[in-house]
Amino acid sequence: MIKICVIGGGAFGTNHLRAFKQMERKGEVKLLALSDLNEEILEKQQESFGVKGYTDFRQMLEAEKPDAVTIATPDHLHKDIALEVIDRGLPLLVEKPLDVTVQGAREIDRKAREKGVFLQVDFHKRYDPYHREAERIVKSGELGEIQYGHVIMEDVINLPRDCFPNWAPRSSPVWFLGVHFYDLLTWIIKKKPVRVVATGIKRVLRNMGVDTYDSVQAKVEYEDGISLTFDTSWILPEEFEAVVNQEFRLVGDKGMIEVDSQYRGMRGCFRKKGMKTFNLGFFEKTEDKWGNEEYHGYGFESIMDFVYNLRFLRQGGKIEDLKGKVAMGEDGVVTTSIAAAVMESVEKQGIPVGIRL
Ligand SMILES: NC(=O)c1ccc[n+]([C@@H]2O[C@H](COP(=O)([O-])OP(=O)(O)OC[C@H]3O[C@@H](n4cnc5c(N)ncnc54)[C@H](O)[C@@H]3O)[C@@H](O)[C@H]2O)c1
Repeated sequence: MIKICVIGGGAFGTNHLRAFKQMERKGEVKLLALSDLNEEILEKQQESFGVKGYTDFRQMLEAEKPDAVTIATPDHLHKDIALEVIDRGLPLLVEKPLDVTVQGAREIDRKAREKGVFLQVDFHKRYDPYHREAERIVKSGELGEIQYGHVIMEDVINLPRDCFPNWAPRSSPVWFLGVHFYDLLTWIIKKKPVRVVATGIKRVLRNMGVDTYDSVQAKVEYEDGISLTFDTSWILPEEFEAVVNQEFRLVGDKGMIEVDSQYRGMRGCFRKKGMKTFNLGFFEKTEDKWGNEEYHGYGFESIMDFVYNLRFLRQGGKIEDLKGKVAMGEDGVVTTSIAAAVMESVEKQGIPVGIRL
């Protein structure tokens, strides 16, 4: 039985807890404990998930002796924790992005390799069945050589304004949203990014006291002349029909594909709430036959896959065998390299920035 501890039990850490609790009920994992600096959150999650709680993650690791750890702390707080976890030889799942500096991401990846520790990065867009199909189509050659493409990922303003205004200034639409699709599209086209040109605007959120970019538009050039543009922002009105608006298209020599990852065919209109769409692919809450909450969808599958990968390794599988199948440290480095180059170009007002992998 794989014994797991979670570090960071905020908004997304809750999904780690849900995933492992549900796996625990099926005898697939043992959820030992949660560490969170915030005592209120810790108390609430202890009550909801029946786990032990620690404010100090080191103390938790010492006392609980887990087999593996997941990290869902704010973006800029992944690195130091990840390095300590790796030092202890524990396999880990790190929320995206691996780190917010290329140097930091490289350091985490290098240390994991040196120690032979399995390091997975939670890029769940790869688990969306539509995205998997897009990857399969591109790999099959049906589109011919890819020439260009376009991506949109936009969040409603509540997230940076209300949910994490304290750390939004240390993040951006690039670090919070862009990384999802930088990883996804790089995985789909299987080419190396070489250069970016990007611009961004700080206005709406800054005027509300949250000093971060509202939006960033980036053109990422890959080898073989492929060029993809990424529109990212987190200032959509809260009246928007979903928390996130997301889509992409890819055009090749022989065809094109378009994926609307937001509107999946079901929508409703509700008093005071207006229009709402449902993305059950990401997150579907049901009940098991005992009345326990049960979650499905790619947002959970990527977290659960961490456990299946650990089992594979326990049964004698090699980390090398998971390469290309799972987002690991080196994918985290590529994505962080794109995001860092985008931010550098934004800061330099659109000057092209090269990516050296
Ligand atoms: N995969 C996804 O779709 C997705 C979605 C949202 C957020 N995320 C990622 O998840 C991470 C967390 O985001 P969030 O929205 O849950 O943020 P959040 O602010 O809601 O939660 C972060 C939690 O980490 C805790 N924390 C900070 N430092 C800690 C430490 N040293 N030890 C223990 N706990 C610590 C905080 O107290 C807080 O409760 C971020 O990296 C974010 O980018 C991923």
